[in-house]
Amino acid sequence: MYIEFEKLIFRNILSYGNNETEIDFKPGINIIFAKNGSGKSSILDALFFALYGKPYRNIKLSSLVNSLNKKNMVCRVFFKKGDDHYEIIRGQKPDLLSYKKNGVEVALTSTKKLIQTDLDQIIGIDSFLFKNIVAVATTYNQPFLSLSNTDRNKLVENLFNLAILRKIEKAIKGENIIAKQNLTLVMKDLENAENQLNLTNTSIANINQTILTNQNKAESLRDKEIGDLIEKNEKNTKILNEFREKSKIATSNIIDVRSKKDTLQNEINDLTVSISKIDIYLSVLDKGSCPVCGNILTDDKHIQDKDSKIEERSSLLKLLNEDQSSLRDLNKIEENNVKNEKIIADCNNIITIGEAKISDNLAKIKKLRETKSEIDLSELLEKENSIKSKLNTDIISFKKEITDKNKECVIIDNVFRITSEDGIRHFLFGKLINVFNNIVNKNLHNLSVKVQVKFDSNLDYVITGLRGENIEYNQFSGGERTRIDMGILLAFLNLSGDLANWNTNILFIDELFDSGIDNEGIDALLKSLNSLIMIKNQSCYLISHRLDTHNETFKSILKIEKNSGFSTISNQN
Ligand SMILES: Nc1ncnc2c1ncn2[C@@H]1O[C@H](COP(=O)(O)OP(=O)(O)OP(=O)(O)O)[C@@H](O)[C@H]1O
Ligand SMILES: [Mg+2]
Repeated sequence: MYIEFEKLIFRNILSYGNNETEIDFKPGINIIFAKNGSGKSSILDALFFALYGKPYRNIKLSSLVNSLNKKNMVCRVFFKKGDDHYEIIRGQKPDLLSYKKNGVEVALTSTKKLIQTDLDQIIGIDSFLFKNIVAVATTYNQPFLSLSNTDRNKLVENLFNLAILRKIEKAIKGENIIAKQNLTLVMKDLENAENQLNLTNTSIANINQTILTNQNKAESLRDKEIGDLIEKNEKNTKILNEFREKSKIATSNIIDVRSKKDTLQNEINDLTVSISKIDIYLSVLDKGSCPVCGNILTDDKHIQDKDSKIEERSSLLKLLNEDQSSLRDLNKIEENNVKNEKIIADCNNIITIGEAKISDNLAKIKKLRETKSEIDLSELLEKENSIKSKLNTDIISFKKEITDKNKECVIIDNVFRITSEDGIRHFLFGKLINVFNNIVNKNLHNLSVKVQVKFDSNLDYVITGLRGENIEYNQFSGGERTRIDMGILLAFLNLSGDLANWNTNILFIDELFDSGIDNEGIDALLKSLNSLIMIKNQSCYLISHRLDTHNETFKSILKIEKNSGFSTISNQN
């Protein structure tokens, strides 16, 4: 990202009054020159406040407002990013904060307040980095080598866009923990589901066993019942057969008596007729004439005939008497047949009832044979089976989830490894640090500092002297320290165009030249700085109360004067 600062306009900030002061950033080395307390460093506060909403120096925000006018403090910074022109407007008393893009104020929804992170995003670097590579001042800023290792890393990572790797590492670390927690949770889910499945399987086996036992029990009960019914039916059939036999005998008895009676009656009739005929014959004989020939019965033949007829009549009569006696006997027997008929009716009745009972039993047997287990556990079994199938589906999906989550963990582990200290960051840092060390040491050589500074990939450093001895940063004199600081700053500026994530056209250096550095050092520094600024076509502002204002290296001189308590800038080219 390249930010091209165009101008800064401010009023009523610190020693500046209500009249607008404008600084158009010009390429080359410019000098802001004035006596102590004129308002030189205040420009940095104005620029910093416009960009970040706070003073550059360690003073209270409210102290920025000019103490004489006490209001209407406004700072406006104009810059270009790509093809877009931006203007940030910020003020106090009243509070102001807005920005314009290509001259149009960016509308913000009522719910969203413009927050600094939005502006940091537009500017591209935060205030920490800005203080270290855009506006440097020894009094208000710690030199790079005096920063903590964490701050050194933060600065370099931000400048060279390596911070993203640390952010990824941090995010991935979180992801890693979450992914592993998720995996553990799913594994727990699986364990629970498998336990439940085991319980359900046991329950199903128990139900099946119960069903089987019940069936066996019911079947043996049923078989016994059927057996009893069959036995009863057999008994009933036997009894019925006896009754049938009895009825049959009774019926045949009746028929037999009737037939015998008929036969006897016929015989009686025949005998009666025969006897009557003999009687007629005999009466004719008694009258003395032959019934056949009509002759008077005088001969022996007719007498013999009469005797034989009498005899015949007597034997017929005897037979008749016998038959009549038999008939009487039979009539008596027939009287008994009434009893037989009753027996038959009773038998038939019993037979009907018995048959009904038998068929009733047969129906019962049929029904029993068709009947299955009496205890119905099918609903329960169905329920358990549906639980089982759901658990099986769950288990499959848990297993799939575990596979996926394992894959996810492996990916996260890999990314974590790549982005971690030992991964890509280490690799990039290693490469970068070599280049950085070379440039720093070249700068130190140009600035006539006879030491070597060597940073490792953790940005820890050693400074070695000509004889290879280690020297502490604070062992150096103020002027030497300034040269070393500048050597490092110039290295950052040098790299910022090519390797860094962010680059800009301005550079403010406050107080550096007013500190311990000697004229020889200043010359060397200006030379190095100038060649760099020229190559990069940057606007560099050196703030000093001491610099030789006639130096040819300077593109322009901004002189500040303080009149009636208010600072004003006058340009001298
Ligand atoms: N709120 C304020 N209103 C008016 N003047 C202020 C306010 N705060 C500070 N000042 C004064 O503004 C003046 C300018 O200060 P500044 O630090 O910009 O000076 P300088 O030119 O950088 O001086 P030096 O060379 O000593 O660093 C100082 O005299 C200071 O007392
Ligand atoms: Mg100052």
